Amino acid sequence: MLDTTPRRFSGDTLVIASHNKGKIREIADLLGAYVERFPDAGSFGLEDPEETGTTFVANAELKARFVAERTGLPALADDSGLAVHALDGRPGVLSARWAERPDGTRDFAWAMERLEAELEALGPSADRSASFVCALSIAWPDGHCETVEGRVDGRLVWPPRGGNGFGYDPMFLADGRTETFGEMAPQAKHEISHRADAFRQLVARCFSP
Ligand code: IMP
Repeated sequence: MLDTTPRRFSGDTLVIASHNKGKIREIADLLGAYVERFPDAGSFGLEDPEETGTTFVANAELKARFVAERTGLPALADDSGLAVHALDGRPGVLSARWAERPDGTRDFAWAMERLEAELEALGPSADRSASFVCALSIAWPDGHCETVEGRVDGRLVWPPRGGNGFGYDPMFLADGRTETFGEMAPQAKHEISHRADAFRQLVARCFSP
């Protein structure tokens, strides 16, 4: 019979499959109670693999597997973005790439304008609902993955509001809230975010006793 019991993390070292210092620090804080060491992929001389997946889960798994196979250690990767329902889930896995200018810089004010223009093209009654999604995956060197997907549902407002957060935060109003993610205090956003949801699921599945 197929064994569907989740695999628990039992080592003392978890490689973070990212080069983003902010993300590495945040993950080390969130999982510090369960893991002793969090080397990052860069300390093994690894570059990021190309994100060729069409879903958040596929990209998180391919990044985690890439690092686990090359280091011989379990590795954790994430992939996140904004899915707009009326746009069939776009920008989705391309959320960061939508903000890339031809000179390589990222401009989210411009990306939000693009998004708004696409929604307005659908007419005044377009469905403005959207979700932030975060997939987290731990891969082991034998190829096994444990993967979770967290989300927070809401809708997009225009014009953008607030100077906190990053990316598409100023446009995103979570269900039941009056402040956008760009207006909310960071701690308040972190309690309800897609990332928090994903970490809660991952801890329950792989870490908590
Ligand atoms: P990645 O997961 O680091 O590839 O980032 C994906 C992209 O999704 C980011 O560059 C942002 O554009 C967007 N994104 C992911 N999470 C958030 C969030 O919490 N707020 C705003 N934008 C986000």
